[in-house]
Amino acid sequence: MKNQDWIRTVDEKIKRKMFKVAERNQKKIPYVTAEGLYEDMAEKDIYWWTNGFWGGIMWQMYHATGEKLYFTIAVETEDKLEKNLYHYRGMDHDSGFKWLLTAVADYRLTGNEKSRDRALIAANSLAGRFNLAGSFIRAWNDEGEGDKAGWAIIDCMMNLPLLYWASEEIHDPRFLQIAQAHADMAMKTFVREDGSVNHIVVFHPATGQVQKSLGGQGYAEESSWTRGQAWALYGFVLSYIHTGKAEYLNTAKKVAHYFIANIPENGLIPVDFRQPADCRWEDGTAAAIAACGLLEIEKYVSENEKAMYHNAAVRMLQALDKEACWDEEKDYIIEKCTAAFHDERHDFPMMYADYYFIEAIWKLSSQESFMW
Ligand code: GLY
Repeated sequence: MKNQDWIRTVDEKIKRKMFKVAERNQKKIPYVTAEGLYEDMAEKDIYWWTNGFWGGIMWQMYHATGEKLYFTIAVETEDKLEKNLYHYRGMDHDSGFKWLLTAVADYRLTGNEKSRDRALIAANSLAGRFNLAGSFIRAWNDEGEGDKAGWAIIDCMMNLPLLYWASEEIHDPRFLQIAQAHADMAMKTFVREDGSVNHIVVFHPATGQVQKSLGGQGYAEESSWTRGQAWALYGFVLSYIHTGKAEYLNTAKKVAHYFIANIPENGLIPVDFRQPADCRWEDGTAAAIAACGLLEIEKYVSENEKAMYHNAAVRMLQALDKEACWDEEKDYIIEKCTAAFHDERHDFPMMYADYYFIEAIWKLSSQESFMW
């Protein structure tokens, strides 16, 4: 099948399936499934970091189809998330994932002032997590003395666009300055010589000295957690898009080259590029996120460089499509994901893999609503 035919086929499969999924899950905020059907995170944990992705899927579907159901669910999801703005526990560095895909998307598409307010409050909270001594945005909350006050994680690169957006929106360079300071720090401290990245770097929160790096959700300290590589790959190209700083594009390319060199023969991405050779656990989230990042890099490189990024993205997306679940009675599309290498559970659906898969297919079919 030619690429254009394949894109059209997947596009149709997504549109057929997602309408059923949306109808069945109108009142939920999905994350994982039980027997193929989504559980409700609004009930379980309204502060969970992935809770914006359902709104993101709804906006992408609404943008591509104009179907009112998606719009209604997107707006209701954003309303439910409002609690996150009033409870400190709910305001960690994942404000970007939560609010770019809901309130910022809503404001960009409809001009809703209430959404603008929510997103600006979230951006202020994110900026308030900046540690001046170490030039990093603190990742997680933990009120134990000295505990996570010095922790920064590579995932945060995807939250920076909330700060870039706020800076442009209210013409205030503080948010841009903080985002760039964090991105500059991440280039130096997270990205290794070979283009792989650390997941967690621990700073002394008072002096800003780097103390250690941790394997986090990957296999081990020196290993290469694939979702972390994908957050870096996509996150740095996004920082380039918002700032025009060539170092960010070059860093995204460096991480991308490492990623592409490690894609296995079958195009399916393991949980960690350095997991033991006999371990078969996969992470479809890493594949879909990296594909999105590669398709963005493709736009900003010279004509003769484009094919490498494009073809690697399509290869991973076609591999995901081959093993995806297109049964319309089940809620998920991407089947094999992993939250963390050392968790007990592996190879199960996580809704945000579907978000990035749809975003990537929409990039290929020019139906995307740019969320970052
Ligand atoms: N940002 C958390 C994760 O990637 O699991």
